[in-house]
Amino acid sequence: MDNNRFIANRELVTDDGDVSLRPTTFDEYIGQEKVKANLKVYVAASKARGEALDHVLLYGPPGLGKTTLSHIIASELGVEIKVTSGPGIERAANLASLLTNLQERDVLFLDEIHRLNHSIEEILYPAMEDFALDISTGKGAGATSLRLNLNKFTLIGATTRAGMLTGPLRDRFGVICRLEPYSADDLIRIVKRSAKLLKITISDDAARELASRSRGTPRIANRILKRVRDFAQVMSDGNIDLAITVKALNDMEIDPLGLDYNDIKLLSALVEKFEGGPAGLDTLAASINEDPGTIEDVIEPYLIQLGFIARTPRGRIALKAAFDHLGVRPGNRASEQLSFLTVGENE
Ligand code: ADE
Repeated sequence: MDNNRFIANRELVTDDGDVSLRPTTFDEYIGQEKVKANLKVYVAASKARGEALDHVLLYGPPGLGKTTLSHIIASELGVEIKVTSGPGIERAANLASLLTNLQERDVLFLDEIHRLNHSIEEILYPAMEDFALDISTGKGAGATSLRLNLNKFTLIGATTRAGMLTGPLRDRFGVICRLEPYSADDLIRIVKRSAKLLKITISDDAARELASRSRGTPRIANRILKRVRDFAQVMSDGNIDLAITVKALNDMEIDPLGLDYNDIKLLSALVEKFEGGPAGLDTLAASINEDPGTIEDVIEPYLIQLGFIARTPRGRIALKAAFDHLGVRPGNRASEQLSFLTVGENE
């Protein structure tokens, strides 16, 4: 992203010549209306006071626009943004160097903040709270410590796992925003906007089909839009209509609800191998040879949103909609579990 450049007509063009589909202002950004409205207020207020915006924590499943929003916040504040990530900061000195190079009111975007090493995290506490860097030199009786003042800045932390943040870190964010999966209507608007930027024509029903197979996620919508464009270019006249969209998505093994190979693998395991569960996360992960973190962050949120699975204290369970989607009839044990759940819901 740092290698991107703005060109005269304000389209963002990456160095490999791709038009960026990322919006650059709040007004261009579609969806997340509540988060956007609140952020607009906080940005306007801090700008009017001439102060740095309070630290912001953005959390939610991948691909919903945490990075995009952070760039928009910085640009609307009229400040520079420096980008880093939890796993990218290996030593305390790396973080210290980033912090000391921030200008007054700049934004430091720290992606995957839950993966920050704990000893490095401690440097952030005084930096966030007092805009100070505590440097200690020497060991034992000869140890001395020195406090360096930093410019006032805004930390924007992004995470898919807010629950993995330590209390002291979470408490230092003045603004905490949760991003939700996008509605079908928002995704249709995003697909149409992206098609326009890519200078391709897409019919209304094709945009609807593409949106409905994008798992509530703009990143996925934009990715499959580009692939459908390839199909349209090679197999048809380049225009995206419903027929070529359905063919392309079916060939890519993206089903009508947007479930891909990995989603179906997990659902089938839970429904068939574990007869609807409950199955513990690690057991489930081992059975499909997948990383538990990927299941929690990437695969599950959409399956939960669809009402296909639920997280319970005893493990993951498949809900009726999952059995229906796979065309599997629940066995006795699963039926009992499902009827118990239905009764519970009505109480
Ligand atoms: N492209 C990716 N995310 C977007 C969003 N939220 N609004 C508009 N375009 C987007």
